[in-house]
Amino acid sequence: MTARAANDLDPFWMPFTANRSFKAHPRLLASARDMHYFTPDGRPILDGTAGLWCVNAGHARRPIVEAIQRQAEILDYAPTFQLGHPLVFELAARLGMLFPADIDHVFFAGSGSEGVDSALKIALAYQRAKGFENRTRLIGRQKGYHGVGFGGISVGGLENNRRGFPTLPGVDHLSHTLNLKEAAFSRGQPTWGAHLADELDALIAEHGAETIAAVIVEPLSGSAGVIVPPVGYLERLREITARHGILLIFDEVITAFGRVGGATASETLGVIPDLLICAKGLTNGAVPMGAVGVRGAIYEAVVNQAAASGIEFFHGYTYSGHPLAAAAGLATLDVYEDEGLYQRATELAPYWEEAVHGLRGLPHVIDIRNLGMVAAIELAARPDAPGARAMDVFHTAFDEGILIRVTGDVIALSPPLIISRAQIDELIDHLSQIIRRTR
Ligand SMILES: Cc1ncc(COP(=O)(O)O)c(C=O)c1O
Repeated sequence: MTARAANDLDPFWMPFTANRSFKAHPRLLASARDMHYFTPDGRPILDGTAGLWCVNAGHARRPIVEAIQRQAEILDYAPTFQLGHPLVFELAARLGMLFPADIDHVFFAGSGSEGVDSALKIALAYQRAKGFENRTRLIGRQKGYHGVGFGGISVGGLENNRRGFPTLPGVDHLSHTLNLKEAAFSRGQPTWGAHLADELDALIAEHGAETIAAVIVEPLSGSAGVIVPPVGYLERLREITARHGILLIFDEVITAFGRVGGATASETLGVIPDLLICAKGLTNGAVPMGAVGVRGAIYEAVVNQAAASGIEFFHGYTYSGHPLAAAAGLATLDVYEDEGLYQRATELAPYWEEAVHGLRGLPHVIDIRNLGMVAAIELAARPDAPGARAMDVFHTAFDEGILIRVTGDVIALSPPLIISRAQIDELIDHLSQIIRRTR
């Protein structure tokens, strides 16, 4: 018998949470199915955020649940250091076919953050393998979110996540592209902002291309409050990096698997990076997993530089390619394909755009932005309490049965791709009423 009751909320140190306020007013989720969560007392909550941007096929989908159950019976765990199991090779091959162009080799990790740190190390290992030992600098972007490992917070650009922690040396940040004066209420990609990619030329002039290993960006920044790439911006980053032998890494932890239509944002937006990180929707959120897709030439350069029998890349995780995650990943890819969910996201996107832009003109709304099945509604901050207005909307929404996500005063929406038009109306109409009622 333990001293604490089973329902004691105190011992769990909750991540990215105001622990004291949550524990005084808990919001608990007990089960989920398709488009809804259910609270312990059975109240349905319409999921407007796919959990944390990950449940793209909707909750507790039978084929995924059964694949995990089956795999737990067959092979609960197997290492992938000097050993292997069939499903992880199969998943790598499937992803290699899904990722664009020659991004056809895959390194597995346990999360998005681990995927990011793996990608940064792969970039450095590649440059070293090619004989460019001095190419060690990394370039990220302001407001970028690349998880919470030390590599990720170094290239990331969210001040709260970096403050108080040491970060890697030799890292610069491009400006972010959010500008309400120039591009508020843009529908899809803003037409203003491509020139900001030219800052990369200035950094290259300052440090010398021969010192820079890689540039990492989210094609669409999610966690910073949905920042949609300006028309031509990613193309310019691609052109400049290619010209200077700098690797381009897309962090597609949020954008892959249909979120912006297409299997990846890279495919949808027509810009192919050298490395592509994914997680979240890879297993529909059901089992933790991250992955880094790399061009075949990158894999070969790193692997072929080592002695034939030696380990080529001293990196990996106990859970790299975990059998349950691999099973969940394969079943998830089947669901996406069988149900045509990437296509569905593309087809729903105009309806979604129309619905969210219908909130324009409501009190406090200073911007609305969207791409694919993602949208942000930015509210004016209360002068004395930044973030409080959106947080009030979040709390009321949860109490009244809809799940939204807030970052500062930005409301971010990213529902499962199985959402119906009627559910889009329900979500947006209800949100509209709540915003009207919020002071
Ligand atoms: C773009 C991006 N990269 C990395 C991460 C980190 O992923 P994880 O929380 O699985 O470590 C996230 C999480 O939201 C993300 O949005």
